Parts: sequence; structure tokens; C-alpha cells
Amino acid sequence: MAWSQLYRGDGAVREVVLPDPPPWRTFPRPSLGKIFQPPEGLSDAVNAALCLRRPMLITGPAGSGKSTVIESVADELMLGPVLRWHVTSRSTLTDALYRYDVLGRIHAQQLQQSVDDIAPFLQLGPLGTALMPAKRPRALLIDEIDKSDLDLPSDLLEVLERGEFEIPELARYEKETVSIREWESGQQQPVARGRIRCAEFPFIVMTSNGERDFPAPFLRRCVRFTMPPPNSLVISQVVQAHLGKHPDSDAQLNELVQHFLERAERGEHLAIDQLLNAAYLLTGQAAPTGEQHARLTEQLLRELTRA
Ligand SMILES: Nc1ncnc2c1ncn2[C@@H]1O[C@H](COP(=O)(O)OP(=O)(O)O)[C@@H](O)[C@H]1O
Ligand SMILES: [Mg+2]
Repeated sequence: MAWSQLYRGDGAVREVVLPDPPPWRTFPRPSLGKIFQPPEGLSDAVNAALCLRRPMLITGPAGSGKSTVIESVADELMLGPVLRWHVTSRSTLTDALYRYDVLGRIHAQQLQQSVDDIAPFLQLGPLGTALMPAKRPRALLIDEIDKSDLDLPSDLLEVLERGEFEIPELARYEKETVSIREWESGQQQPVARGRIRCAEFPFIVMTSNGERDFPAPFLRRCVRFTMPPPNSLVISQVVQAHLGKHPDSDAQLNELVQHFLERAERGEHLAIDQLLNAAYLLTGQAAPTGEQHARLTEQLLRELTRA
């Protein structure tokens, strides 16, 4: 049965077995580190940032692979699981450093007057965890920093310059050393006098769709890289890496890639993951043909500026 016959809209109730998902839609989500194909010039920029201990600022259109760069670097250089901070207009620097559940603590104090421990109510955020002293630098993604409140980049710069910060609630706490939970792993790490100071500057990638300009002092302290527009060579490598087949060896796939490239060259705003979706559904044996094929191609490769 072709995949396009799953739902027919005829109201006839039936139990269907879905075909296997595309490799990039299996869960838990596999790391894309090994699949990522670096565009020209990226590795120089990454190495410069690593050697200079500076954060990277990667700009480029949606779907150009900005958020995936760090997975590739962290996998290859064994920097451990990537810490992720997804920035929105409501994000604050403090949230990224640590979180303190003051209400939870007051509630616990009311219930149980004898033991008063602050540790269960504190957790490091992604940036706070990245700044914990560790043998190897951690990898931190600060995703879509252009969506932040206007002041955030400058506030962030201050912390990144110093490589340290303080948790005021701990600085004035009775015990000198408190173990607090890291972001994601939940592992407990000792913090003395509320001061966290990195031993190795983390490898940081900040991404931006270019929706706004950043202050010069901020730009000056980053290694900047702009994702180049996709070319035929890179696209073919990306398709091969994800789908395991090269456009040169598959006429249907080649036609789709050419169609994608022609439209991208005309200035249409299309993302690589749209091409991957289209390649997955519209090539191979179960692929629809004729008018249905044309209709679906249009649907899956719809410009990003249209809803
Ligand atoms: N150079 C590349 N190599 C492999 N896959 C890529 C590449 N560029 C984009 N992709 C694929 O496109 C998808 C979108 O990439 P993503 O990093 O989320 O883009 P962005 O952050 O720029 O919007 C990812 O799932 C990734 O698999
Ligand atoms: Mg992204």
C-alpha cells in the first residue's frame, strides 16, 4: 500500500500500520553530528573560536544548519552532550545561569521547620552549567539570540568576558559549600561561596536569523560566520548523508534536487529540511506519480515566507 493511501477521508474505519519514519524523525532524537556536512569555511571559523576561546555567532536563513553545527563539533571533539539555551523575548540572563525556586523553599520551610536546605531549590541553567569547572570545555548552543530582549546580548557579554558569576542566594548562605544540580543531567556539583568560575572557556555557538543587528562590542568579541547559500555539491552531500543515496545515482532524486536548486537560485526562500522531506516521500518505489507528484512537490517545497 502506498503511503498516500493511509488516510482517505472516506470514513471507513480501519487500523493502519504507519511506514517507518524518516531517520531524522525517530525518537529519542539521534545526534546529527555525524550527518552534518560543513559548508566551506566553517571549520576555519570553528577552529579560530576554539583556539581564541571566543563564542561563535552563526547567521543565516532558517534551515541552513546553524543549530546543527555544534552537534558536529561536540561529537567530533568529545565535548559531551550539547547544552541548549533556546532564547525568546522573555529569556533572561539569570534564567540561563541558575534558577532558584524561592516559593518552593518557603513552602518546605513552613511544612518542616527543622531542616532548612537550599540545595534542592537551586538548579544551574544551561549557561551556568557550561561555566562549571570541568576537564574538557562544555558545548553550549545559545539558539536564536536575535529573538532576545534588546539588553540581553550586552549582559551576556559581561558574563562571557569574565567566565564567572555569582549566585547571591548562596554567597550569603550559612554553609560554605553547597552541591547544586546541573542543567539536563541533574548531576550535583559543589559550589563554594556561591561563585562559579570556569576552568576552560566553553565552546559556544550563538545563532541568529539576522532579524536584528548586535552592538559592535558584542560582535567584536565573537568569531562570526554566515552560512553560505546551498550549492549543488553540498546539497548532494547532505542528501546522501541523510538518506543514504546520492542524487547522481537516482534520476528521481536528481530531478528534485535540481528543482530545489533552481528555485533557491531564483531567490525563493527554501530550507534544506524541506528538500529532505520531499526527497523522502517523493522518491523511491512508493512515491506518487503524475499530478499527485507535482502537487506534493509544491506542497512540501512551499516558500518559507508563505504560511
Ligand atoms: N550542512 C548540513 N548537513 C546536514 N544536514 C543539514 C545541513 N544543513 C541543514 N541540515 C538539515 O536541515 C535541518 C535544519 O537544520 P538546522 O540546524 O535546524 O537549521 P537552522 O538552525 O539554520 O534553522 C536539520 O535537521 C539538518 O538535518
Ligand atoms: Mg535553528
